[in-house]
Amino acid sequence: MTSPNAPTATSRTHRAPRVALKGSTGSPFARVLGFGSYRPRRRVDNEEMCRIIDSTPEWIEQRSGIIERRWASDDETLLHMCTEAGKMAMERAGITGDQVGAVILATVTWPVRTPAGGPQVAAALGANGAPAYDQSAGCAGFCYGLTQAEGLVRSGAAEYVVVIGADRLTDITDFQDRSSAFLLADGAGAAVVGPSDTPGMGPAVWGSDGEASGVMGMTPTADGSELKFHMQGRDVFKWACTYVARQSAEMLEKAGIGPEDLDVFIPHQANNRIIDAMMRTLRLPEHITVARDIKYQGNTSSASVPLAIERLYDDNLVESGQTALIMGFGAGLCYAGQVIQLP
Ligand SMILES: CC(C)(COP(=O)(O)OP(=O)(O)OC[C@H]1O[C@@H](n2cnc3c(N)ncnc32)[C@H](O)[C@@H]1OP(=O)(O)O)[C@@H](O)C(=O)NCCC(=O)NCCS
Repeated sequence: MTSPNAPTATSRTHRAPRVALKGSTGSPFARVLGFGSYRPRRRVDNEEMCRIIDSTPEWIEQRSGIIERRWASDDETLLHMCTEAGKMAMERAGITGDQVGAVILATVTWPVRTPAGGPQVAAALGANGAPAYDQSAGCAGFCYGLTQAEGLVRSGAAEYVVVIGADRLTDITDFQDRSSAFLLADGAGAAVVGPSDTPGMGPAVWGSDGEASGVMGMTPTADGSELKFHMQGRDVFKWACTYVARQSAEMLEKAGIGPEDLDVFIPHQANNRIIDAMMRTLRLPEHITVARDIKYQGNTSSASVPLAIERLYDDNLVESGQTALIMGFGAGLCYAGQVIQLP
């Protein structure tokens, strides 16, 4: 029986407001104006890794494509890495701290739950006072951030937005778990998104699958003493190679381009074999440049896409004006991506 006090659905009548408000208007379009990155100093090759876990260098390379990864030292804190990457992106975009309209920090490894890292990063970038916040979308975090940044620039909520993807995955790695420890690494990447007269970013394709959230994330270690990152690698692998790969095809479609129009493919650096499977699904032509930063960097979660972009610039494999498909996928489960024009 329904209680007499139970709320009932009512439809509200919208009356004409008594006063008119000013709305916000931003730039017609947005684009990435500059990228930046920070790669930790310490290289850990597969030989060294196999002194920690029960594996072989050959197995690791064959199953993941990784030959070495970067681990942050104590002085390479998340704040330090974010600041270095953010400053580099701002310098390349030609903006100073006082021009920053918002800072979005994508991370799953900020050391405390509150206060958030975003405001501290904003302060370190000379942008104290700017709106700044953290977001948790796993390895999709950077692309989630770019999507929000585009919206902020186009709505007029901010003129220039610094998006940072940074993680110290070694802080949450279970070194007793040989199926994930060899994949995880540390680093930071950043981008400045700003106004543009022409489209510099295609529409995002993004989403989540909370019903499958148990596939990866923080769970107790075997002895139950700590929460560390664990995953069901095979399930993640299948999801990425099938569902996420199909979503990537939609990213091209939404931007109004075909695979033959693409110059560069920069997927999340989770596993070389996932990248290969995605290329097959997308039917990418041979001549396209494909990011393979995984080989020397490992999986850095939200930093992986901007770090991979940075290596392509360093190796002179990409140039300004080229059209790139970028995408990330990971814990949540979350995925996001878009076609962008490289700065
Ligand atoms: C983790 C991953 C590399 C494992 O590769 P795989 O080919 O799927 O291997 P499987 O999980 O099927 O395991 C195969 C065997 O290797 C063993 N194995 C696991 N880790 C090993 C290691 N480091 N060294 C040697 N053998 C290992 C397993 O125990 C298993 O043995 P079994 O067949 O006797 O049970 C792969 O699943 C992967 O990359 N998944 C995606 C993970 C990821 O990127 N997550 C983050 C996304 S953001």
